[in-house]
Amino acid sequence: MPVFYKPVPTSEHDDEESQNLTKSRSARIKTTLFYFVATIAVMYVAYLATRSIIRSVPKHGMHGRPGCHHRNLTTLPSHHILPSGDKIPSVALGIAGKGEVGAAVQTALKTGYRHIDGAWIYGNEEEVGKAISASGVPRDQLWLTSKLWNNFHAPEDIEPALDETLTRLNTEYLDLYLIHWPIAFKKGSNNVLDKELTANPYPTWQKLEELVDKGKIRNIGISNFNIARIKNLTANPLKHKPAVNQVELNYFNPQPELLKWSKENGLLLEAYSPLGSTKQVKEALSVPEVKEIAKKLDITPAQALISWHVQRGTIVLPKSVTPSRVQENFQVVTLPDDLFDKLEKAATSHPPQRVVNPSKNWGLDFDVFDENWPL
Ligand code: A2P
Repeated sequence: MPVFYKPVPTSEHDDEESQNLTKSRSARIKTTLFYFVATIAVMYVAYLATRSIIRSVPKHGMHGRPGCHHRNLTTLPSHHILPSGDKIPSVALGIAGKGEVGAAVQTALKTGYRHIDGAWIYGNEEEVGKAISASGVPRDQLWLTSKLWNNFHAPEDIEPALDETLTRLNTEYLDLYLIHWPIAFKKGSNNVLDKELTANPYPTWQKLEELVDKGKIRNIGISNFNIARIKNLTANPLKHKPAVNQVELNYFNPQPELLKWSKENGLLLEAYSPLGSTKQVKEALSVPEVKEIAKKLDITPAQALISWHVQRGTIVLPKSVTPSRVQENFQVVTLPDDLFDKLEKAATSHPPQRVVNPSKNWGLDFDVFDENWPL
């Protein structure tokens, strides 16, 4: 009979059992250890994830800057509400110049900018339009501003000029269209003043109002208008009042009176050349109060200045074609009151120095910024 089972001697059997027992005990210890280490690992990963989420919350200000935990700053307005109810984002990319602007627009849109400030006269609207289309950002999430050039103030010239801008930007409407200067030149002329339309911009405005009603523009505004020129326009029975006035505002030319008057009269200001323009950016970034803010808040001087503009209650339009600066300029923070006041005082207590004034270049026999125009 074949032997299928050969009984093991008792002593050997005991030995095997005890071996099995030892094996199962060590297996249990291994399993416990495994679960222990795994639990620690999971907890550590959860800790790292939580920490990175907390760190990714904006450091301060409305767009945030990673890595700083100084203060709880959430008070800067990310946008302003215009009389139409539309929300205009506080920080825009200014886009004068050609050639490098398309790439700057793409960087800006990737960074999170949703406001692009351009103009017909910059001659770059096609480049900008292509960059916007390539970005894939939906049109209804973008704020596009353009400006009517001085040669097209005659009512019959406005819609064709606007259509050119719309075609170049590859869009059906503008969020904001501004009268670029309170100066009208005769169509096709080389800066020949149209005295009538310069003295009385109401016909130009009425045409713009018509284009709002037609849906080609959502908001209309003015640019480079002083208080006298604004009153000259708004004395008319306007259907749509100016939504904004875009003017030069920077450390050298902070225009506190215009800012105060505009706030009192519900007119939003937009700051162009907010860093002092190419001519004076270096000096602006070296102002002691600006440097002090930058150092104390661990931000850059440009961020200190751009934040100051937003905190003053204006829209700010810094220009840059340098990718790192485009990114840098989007990060704004609330300045503590004492530092804000110190910079405001420094900016407003030296004689104002305007950077942009084309009056002479245009051959005008008066200053476009003079409150007492001869017209
Ligand atoms: P770039 O375009 O080479 O970056 P403003 O907006 O007042 O008109 O200033 C525009 C000028 O400021 C441009 O010469 C631009 O140079 C420069 N600029 C813009 N952002 C910064 C920044 N963060 N740091 C230094 N310079 C800057």
